[in-house]
Amino acid sequence: MAQQPRENTWWRDRFPLNWQGIKDTLLGETMPQHMRKWWFATGGIPFFLFFSLVVTGILLAFNYVPEPPEAYESVSRITNEIPFGAWVRGIHKWSAEFLVITLILHVLRVTITGAFKKPREFTWVMGALLLVCAFMAAFTGYSLVYSHQSYWAAVVGTNIAQSVPLVGPFVANLLRGGPELGPETWHRLFALHAAIIPILMVLLITVHLVLVRSHGVADVPGANNERTYRFYPDHFLTEAIIFMVLLFGFTIVTIISPPALGPMADPLVTPLHTKPEWYFYWMYRWLKLTPLAVGVLVPVTLAAIFVLWPFIDGWIRKRAPKTEYQPILGAVVALTLIVLTIWETISP
Ligand code: HEM
Repeated sequence: MAQQPRENTWWRDRFPLNWQGIKDTLLGETMPQHMRKWWFATGGIPFFLFFSLVVTGILLAFNYVPEPPEAYESVSRITNEIPFGAWVRGIHKWSAEFLVITLILHVLRVTITGAFKKPREFTWVMGALLLVCAFMAAFTGYSLVYSHQSYWAAVVGTNIAQSVPLVGPFVANLLRGGPELGPETWHRLFALHAAIIPILMVLLITVHLVLVRSHGVADVPGANNERTYRFYPDHFLTEAIIFMVLLFGFTIVTIISPPALGPMADPLVTPLHTKPEWYFYWMYRWLKLTPLAVGVLVPVTLAAIFVLWPFIDGWIRKRAPKTEYQPILGAVVALTLIVLTIWETISP
């Protein structure tokens, strides 16, 4: 009689968990057919990009020194001397750029399809807080380089924080480690960029995805929401392939144009023109057009409205159920942001 092959239970004996149940919970989901369209995959790509940022960030941290002026020298060493340093820095930089781009696309898609409405309000709130974290990570990361541009971006950023009514001076002092920028500031920027913000993002992503899974993906009016396909491997691998293609693209761009550094910061010389990263252009232009207090108060209020939007929208629709105000409001907001961004881009 043929002998049955003996099942290998080495791991199961030592970790007596319900592995099949865990696998089914994590991967055994089905997705509605409309999720096959690429703009519905904009939630998975930020997830992969965040993973890429963590891995490359850890590699950069092996050689980065969070203390001026060594900070600049260490970034220069990573870029010019350490094997594959420029590549790791390039992937980190491009992953950050594309995290912002794909998050903007993701916000557009959940807004246009109305996927933020009841009962998914907290899925949106967690996502909106993630966007705020992504912007904070971008600001702190840019400042870590200690180049002339990034130093003055840190000065402008902390001055803006200082102008927020009530909490501003406290937050700015906490960020700077005193009334002026100094070595303490870079210790704090590094702690925020490499530990506090990523840990916060891991927690927010976990709650965000648990909520997405618990509610299931929102139905889309007009689509056949009954037809489904497998999350794993179909949806997961599609997103993983898109991510691989992006990584390949980042590598090519990094080879053609390695990440720049610019001259080292000189705190005594105010540059003629400072520019933040492109996704802050709209705010920067707005600040140039308005007195500082108004300029800061408006984006802070808008950010609060953005985070709480599903509740505000629900409140408005309860009172005016027939008004279709969202497309007009969305167009006005998008147009304003685009005009301010282009204006700042073309100005010296
Ligand atoms: C690192 C940041 C983020 C990650 C990794 C992420 C990931 C995801 C994933 C994987 C989904 C499943 C459906 C899909 O792929 O579209 C999803 C759905 C959703 N996300 Fe995000 N997201 C992030 C940020 C955001 C932001 C900034 C918002 C809005 C402010 C948001 C709001 C939502 C909503 C409302 C849904 C439910 C959509 C539905 O059920 O159809 N997310 N997110």
